[in-house]
Formats: sequence, C-alpha cells, structure tokens
Amino acid sequence: MPSDSEPGPGPAPGLLRPGQRVVLVAATADNGVIGADGDIPWRIPGDFAHFKDTTLGHTLVMGRATYDSIGRPLPGRATIVVTRDPTWSAEHAEVLVAHSFEEALGLAEGLPGDVMVAGGAQVYALALPYATHQVITDVHQSPEGDTFYPAWDRGLWVETAREEHDGWSITWWERRS
Ligand SMILES: NC(=O)c1ccc[n+]([C@@H]2O[C@H](COP(=O)([O-])OP(=O)(O)OC[C@H]3O[C@@H](n4cnc5c(N)ncnc54)[C@H](OP(=O)(O)O)[C@@H]3O)[C@@H](O)[C@H]2O)c1
Repeated sequence: MPSDSEPGPGPAPGLLRPGQRVVLVAATADNGVIGADGDIPWRIPGDFAHFKDTTLGHTLVMGRATYDSIGRPLPGRATIVVTRDPTWSAEHAEVLVAHSFEEALGLAEGLPGDVMVAGGAQVYALALPYATHQVITDVHQSPEGDTFYPAWDRGLWVETAREEHDGWSITWWERRS
C-alpha cells in the first residue's frame, strides 16, 4: 500500500555520516502485531540471537516505551531513547536522550556503526522516511496485540536476502535507489 509517510530516499543529508545506514530491525507477526501490553507476545530465542548479531557494535534508537520494557541499555551497543519528556533521563548515565527522531540521528552521527532502530511502533513510524534498510523477522503467528508495525510500500523496497526457520523467517530489505 503506498504510504505518504515514506517520502524517501533515506537519510536527510547532513544528519548522518556518509554511508551510515538507518536500519529498522523488527519482528512482526502475520497480522502485523509487534507488541501486546508493553511486551512482545512471543519468545523466539533464535530471533533474540539474530537481533544481537545484527545490532552489536552499532547504535540503537528506541522509543521510551520500548526502553522501559527492556529496562536497561543492551551491552555492546550505544543507546539513544526518544521521548517528548524534557525531564526524562535513564538510570544509566550512558543512555542518550533525544526529543525527536531527527535529534536522535544527529546524536548517532557521532556514535559507532549504523543506526539500528529497535522500535516500537511509534519510533518505527518516525524512522521509516529515513530508513535505508529493514531487517524484518516474520513470525508466523497471529497473536492478540495492541501495537502494529507501520504500513510501508513494498514497491519502494527490494528484498535482498531471506532466511527460513521453523515458524519464523528473516527478510532483509533495501530501499530502491
Ligand atoms: N516486535 C518487535 O520487534 C518490537 C520491537 C520493539 C518494541 N516492541 C513492542 O512495541 C511496544 C512499544 O511500542 P510503542 O509504539 O507503544 O512505543 P515506543 O515507540 O517504544 O515509544 C513510544 C514513546 O516514544 C516517544 N515518542 C513518540 N513519538 C515521539 C516524537 N515524535 N518525538 C519525541 N518522542 C516521541 C514518546 O515517549 P514519552 O511518552 O516518554 O514522551 C512515546 O510514548 C511494546 O509492546 C514493545 O514490546 C516490539
């Protein structure tokens, strides 16, 4: 479905280092659900391992709700939390705070690796216009949930790789140039 929220073609010039990618990393169920009651409604150890492999050494950007659900910065990755609350800070001093997605990109410019957008739905939606890549775990379940991955136009994206597992798969997408 075409989406007005995807002007493309990726990161705004000047916000990021040349070559720095903006990668949405998400796990979505067949019905689009990504979350329920502030949590993820499945446990797939192989997908946790994939998330770790994909994001280690990079910079994570996540919404305040997702950060709260994890409760701590993930080791081996810089963390930027997006919030509208000017008074919010994490208990961990190394966690950086941004008050818009663009401010998060500006902070990430000086941090290691690519920008790995770790959700949730609100922050995926903010990030989608800037995204150069998506790494989507398709979970072949249709759980109840209250949080959904944003609509995106597959015509703007090319599938570059796919890995099949029992009950789930991973697809790598790159924005068409
Ligand atoms: N399946 C997956 O791959 C996956 C990944 C991540 C998360 N999740 C799930 O997704 C759910 C959380 O997602 P969510 O959409 O509710 O929350 P979220 O995107 O993690 O965070 C939402 C928060 O981000 C801040 N925010 C949103 N828009 C903003 C803007 N324009 N400027 C500045 N700050 C902004 C606000 O923080 P303040 O309220 O502090 O202002 C808002 O409450 C949970 O269930 C989680 O488990 C699933």
